[in-house]
Amino acid sequence: MPMETANMFNPASKVSKISHCSSMEQYKQMHDKSLKDPEAFWGEITKEFHFEEKVKGKFLDYNFDITKGKIFVRWLEGAKTNICYNCLDRHVLAGKGDQVAFYWEGNDPADAEVVTYGELLKDVCRVANVLKAKGVAKGDRVAIYMPMVKHLVVAMLAVARIGAVHSIVFGGYSADSLADRMMDAQASVLITADAVWRGPKLIALKEIADDALKLCSAKDLKVKMNLVVQHMNKVTAPQPASNGTAANGNVAKKTHFDDKVNWDPSVDVWWHEALSTVSSECDPVWMDTEDPLFMLYTSGSTGKPKGVQHTIGGYMLYTATTFKYSFDYHQGDVYFCTADIGWITGHSYVTYGPLLNGATSVLFEGVPTYPHTGRFWEIIEKYKVSKFYTAPTAIRALMKFGDEPVKKYDLSSLAVLGSVGEPINPEAWLWYYRVVGDSNVSIVDTFWQTETGGHVITPLPGATPCKPGSACFPFFGVDVALLDEEGREIKGEGEGYLVFCRPWPGMMRTVYGNHERFETTYFKKFPGFYCTGDGARRDSDGYIWVTGRIDDMLNVSGHLLSTAQVESSLVEHPSVAEAAAVARPHSIKGECLYCFVTLTEGNSFEDKLIAELKNKVRSKIGAFASPDFIQLAPGLPKTRSGKIMRRVLRKIAVGDKDFGDISTLADPSIVEKLFELRPKESKK
Ligand code: WTA
Repeated sequence: MPMETANMFNPASKVSKISHCSSMEQYKQMHDKSLKDPEAFWGEITKEFHFEEKVKGKFLDYNFDITKGKIFVRWLEGAKTNICYNCLDRHVLAGKGDQVAFYWEGNDPADAEVVTYGELLKDVCRVANVLKAKGVAKGDRVAIYMPMVKHLVVAMLAVARIGAVHSIVFGGYSADSLADRMMDAQASVLITADAVWRGPKLIALKEIADDALKLCSAKDLKVKMNLVVQHMNKVTAPQPASNGTAANGNVAKKTHFDDKVNWDPSVDVWWHEALSTVSSECDPVWMDTEDPLFMLYTSGSTGKPKGVQHTIGGYMLYTATTFKYSFDYHQGDVYFCTADIGWITGHSYVTYGPLLNGATSVLFEGVPTYPHTGRFWEIIEKYKVSKFYTAPTAIRALMKFGDEPVKKYDLSSLAVLGSVGEPINPEAWLWYYRVVGDSNVSIVDTFWQTETGGHVITPLPGATPCKPGSACFPFFGVDVALLDEEGREIKGEGEGYLVFCRPWPGMMRTVYGNHERFETTYFKKFPGFYCTGDGARRDSDGYIWVTGRIDDMLNVSGHLLSTAQVESSLVEHPSVAEAAAVARPHSIKGECLYCFVTLTEGNSFEDKLIAELKNKVRSKIGAFASPDFIQLAPGLPKTRSGKIMRRVLRKIAVGDKDFGDISTLADPSIVEKLFELRPKESKK
């Protein structure tokens, strides 16, 4: 083990003692084997799962080089399996039917429910039978638009059980977005719920779904059934304040739910009524490993959303294996991932990865700050969570409230803390480690994408000494390279385009209905490589530091800078909670830095602070990087999955109101506010 320093943290000994991979030597051996002999490495893992028929063709066949023909990836040719069977039946047959699959925790702390593997399986079979009775068959697309409730897990597994393809649309999307995605997928069934409370806000899912269905029918998409979960009669509503605003002062569109949902008997079917008339048994459909499992539209911080398509066999092996090793999962752990199932993190690490491992997880319906800012920590204490997985945006949002809301709870059960979604700045990493983890945990900063299906660069919590802000090393089967602009490989230390040289089992196979878009987006720039679109740096110890989307890079006076670098120096200042840096054209420097900062509670935006912040960047990076403009940002424009949309900030920086498509923003109103707050000197 290297010496522990302020920049290097060894794995927690309580983790490495029992770990599936407990040293860097073991990691290197396993990683080498996974590259030298993928068939032996993954072949061994296939033995843990049920395959109805074994591999008959090639174990792995692919082409990554667009100059040589069509891009394709195939794993486990000829084998047949069913992922739902592997998530549920396999465990129930092994006598684990009574084990808890999910502790469901509602938006309101008064609401909770326990769901076992046996119960899940029965409900999944019932829904599968309901779908079959409506004529849904292998290959058909089913859209799912639901809150974080067990029915969502049931719905996706039921679709997978009968060989259909799920397309889950995050429950915060508008009717237009839902309709666009349903049209693109040509979905024949929709599954939704009456409504949900998210924090103090009511989201009228059924109403939004009705609007989406109208949009679809105007474009000739015939939807056979809208299966609706009745959820609101089972949950506690937030207490509305007397002035009509919801409990914490936010004005909700509606502050009560009146039980009356519009009903169109020609398509609408209540979930509980449909389930009461069918059998709780249903044979799985044995599928080819390369048949599609689901499509998921990427969050779209740039461009039009794409239907990323994953297939069954490789995705199953990969999510199961990454879950086991990245979180070092053991029977008896209680695992809690805060991501919504509407995102890839929820697909891979709320549903598939944990269930394939027979794990016990927390499924949380609410938000981190409702009814109070200690909600995550309260849940960790309640269920004695040992493995916790969240996003830097949530960590930074909670850091703003200081240590006190964390310290109120007993978090001593924690052993591994994960991060995903964007580069985690060292400041947030250290707070996560020291305050949440009490300096006695392993942190895993997992880098991956909707497209990669599972973690591709990540520390292993029992093995890897971590440097805060670095995602460390490639996962098994992943062959990483950094390329320069001309496509030459950068060996050793350096910074460039982050690419992968060969397929790992969990990667996407195509863009739904548009294979050419798949090829041009990921394989055209550098023939022979999968291009992530992210930049990365390799340091002298071989650690990989993902620096952010290449499109967001800054070029100041000929120096290439990553947004992550600038933003993490700003966030080191105690008054700054969050920051975003973009480039603004400059007559001399080519580009200059324009930064947006959100302040922590109780601080005001004054000239003194601006000067301190400029100095901070200057001292951390260099005089050339000193920002020309710093503007106050009460909030940042983020996609619904929490990613900053920097292309909008670039427009604000130059005073251009032509923002392009901002419909995927969580709160589009922030854009106008930021525009008004532009500093005077930037208007010249
Ligand atoms: C970014 C989320 C740095 C990256 C699973 C990537 C990260 C995009 C990290 C994918 C991380 C995700 N460090 N950057 N640990 N994790 N990213 O498709 O830019 O929503 O390309 O998948 O998020 O986002 P997506």
